[in-house]
This record gives sequence, structure tokens and C-alpha cells, in this order.
Amino acid sequence: MNPLLKRLQPYPFERLRQLHAGITPNPAFRPISLGIGEPKHATPELIKTALNASLSGLASYPATAGEPKLRQAMADWLQRRYSLALDPLTQILPVNGSREALFALAQTVIDPTRDGATVVCPNPFYQIYEGAALLAGTKIWFAPSDPARNFAVDWAAVPQAVWAKTQLLFVCSPGNPTGAVMGLDEWKLLFELSDQYGFVIASDECYSEIYFRDEPPLGSLQAAAQLGRQDFKNLIALTSLSKRSNVPGLRSGFVAGDAALIKPFLLYRTYHGSAMSPVVQSASIAAWNDEQHVLDNRALYRAKFAQVTPLLAAVMDVALPDAGFYLWAGIPERFHGDDAAFSCELLGFYNVVVLPGSYLARDAQGHNPGAGRIRMALVAETAECVEAAQRIVQFIQST
Ligand SMILES: Cc1ncc(COP(=O)(O)O)c(C=O)c1O
Repeated sequence: MNPLLKRLQPYPFERLRQLHAGITPNPAFRPISLGIGEPKHATPELIKTALNASLSGLASYPATAGEPKLRQAMADWLQRRYSLALDPLTQILPVNGSREALFALAQTVIDPTRDGATVVCPNPFYQIYEGAALLAGTKIWFAPSDPARNFAVDWAAVPQAVWAKTQLLFVCSPGNPTGAVMGLDEWKLLFELSDQYGFVIASDECYSEIYFRDEPPLGSLQAAAQLGRQDFKNLIALTSLSKRSNVPGLRSGFVAGDAALIKPFLLYRTYHGSAMSPVVQSASIAAWNDEQHVLDNRALYRAKFAQVTPLLAAVMDVALPDAGFYLWAGIPERFHGDDAAFSCELLGFYNVVVLPGSYLARDAQGHNPGAGRIRMALVAETAECVEAAQRIVQFIQST
């Protein structure tokens, strides 16, 4: 067996299942889960129609590079969204959701035989980053998010000696779970570090279309272009239809950026067998070419967050995030930072599931930056999220 498999950590939801195993939720309330971040708004009809109309595609093997029409649709979207002109042939590649691409990219770019091979990762973070690094045979250095700066990652906390060994940096903007969006200054710093030490930046942007400020979140490729980096050197942006278009089951996204990375990534993916089904390609073209359903989806999240956030902000340390569909909330003092205990009591008394923040982060430099927080995914319909928030308010006020 591959010995590296033993280094993988249990997934947060597995830990949550175990945590809640002995608890009998109060039967007076119907169950509501804010645990899993799976989009629940309706899949747009135009995507289902395109999928149905392309079933003949099942009769042929797809190319790993995808159909030119698909890559053109992705390039057109990058143009509309970020005013960027990428070459669909050399700078864009379809992927079967950003999750597999995050993992596969690490396997492509990392050389574990180099002394001290390291991946730098935000903390808290999306657990695939860690698994990708571990199976690629590297060490991981966790950079903490800073609550005092709207949860921006404290890149200055990473020692120069660590950057010197870093081969890959994962960033997540908008962040899961914090919702924080990286600004141009932060990108400038990371590009300078990448130039100095030669590491690749994998920028996970799968929440980019769900935002609450007027300005849409800055994309990594957009930041690079604004800083005169037209070749996107050492930068790969990963995006996805899962959240943008409410199709987590479609498994469709794309990567874009440095052509010198896209080329070996295509080679890796050809051997791995990561071509996108022709049926999924057709549905994806329809999805990338339409923006109205994205506007409608964003409007639903905005209305929902506008109702839920003030209810919870009255009793918890929480605010409207920049973007994403999570609330990242500090729990009341009486729990002494024990987010798992908060989650258990809330389930027991009020039948609401929330994810302990410490499960989304690692102890690093003597501290777990998720401790004392919970993540609430506001993916269900507004009425259900409001009811959950009201129960949480009751729970906090009654204790
Ligand atoms: C931060 C982050 N990145 C990537 C993904 C993977 O999304 P998908 O593979 O559906 O594109 C998720 C899913 O929850 C996520 O939260």
C-alpha cells in the first residue's frame, strides 16, 4: 500500500458524525443542517435542457483537453467577468470540478525528491489542500487567518526559510470558511514571493460569484494582469460551476493561467483519465454562456444573508462576509472556545447541525485558528436558515 495514505486525516464531516453519534436531538424540532456546504438552490433549467439534448455524446470518448467550443466558452466568461483575454488552447483546461483539479495539480507540480518539499496552506482551509500535499509527499506549513484583519491570511507569519522550500501555495479567495476576499496588495506580495522562491500558486476561486459587496471579488488572474503579469507566471486559477450554477453533481470547472503549467497538467490528466464527459461539456457550455441564472442565484443568497446575519450578530461574533455562502461565527464565552461542545449542545437542544471551526483548521504554532468558531452553511432555503438562526439565538440566550 502507498504509505502516504496513512497520513490522511479524517474528513471534517466524518469527525462531525462521530462527535454527534451519541446525541439524541430534541424531537420537538425538525432537523436542520447548516453543516455541509453543498449548494441547494435549484439547478437552472437551461443546464438540464442542454444536458438532455446532448446524450448522443455518450457514444464517444472525450479528449482530455475538452472541445474547443467549451474552452472558448470559458475564455469568453473570463473576458466578461475579469476583462481578460486568455488563449483557450494553451491557457485554459476543463476539469471535473475544482476538487479533483486542486488535488491533481499538486501531483503535477510537486517534486518530492527536493529537500524539504513544502506546501503552504491557509488555516482554516479546505481539506483537499492538505490531502493533495500529503499524497504528493510534502510537508505542510499552515498560515493562520487573522480575525483582526477580516480573516485575511497572515502571510508574514510564514518564515522565509519555509518560503525557500515551498513548491506550491494554496490560496482560497473568497475563502472557505471565512468568506474573506484577497485584495491587490495581498496578491502583489504573493507574486513577489513566488518570483523570489519559484513556487506555484493554486488559487481556489470556486465561490467567486456569490458575493455581498458591490464589487465582485478580485480574481487572481485579474490581479496578475493589473500588476503587468500577462503570462500569469506560476499561477493557476481554479473555478467551478458547482456553486455558481448550483450543479455540484455535474462535476465541472476549469483551470486557467500559466501555459507552462497547463501543458504538463494536461499530460498528467491524460494519464490519470480526467477527461470531461461530452454530455457534461455541453451542459457546461450552456452554463458558462449564461449569466442571468448567476445573478438570480446571487440575489437569493443576498436576501438570505440579509435576514439571517443580523439575527445571529445580535448574539454571536459574526458579520456579513465579503463572499461565499458561510457564516464564520465566534461562539459565546461560556463555552471557553469549545466549538465541539457548542455544536453538540445545539444539536441536542435545538436539532440544528453546525460544523465546529476547529475541524476545519489544524493546530499550528501552538494554536488552532478555528477553535471557538463554528461554520454555518446557508445553503438551504431562506425560511429554513432563518428558523435555524432563531433556534441558535434561543439556544444562546437560554444558556
Ligand atoms: C474551498 C473549496 N474549494 C473547492 C471545492 C470543490 O468544489 P467542486 O469540486 O464542486 O468544484 C469546495 C467545495 O465545497 C470548496 O469549498
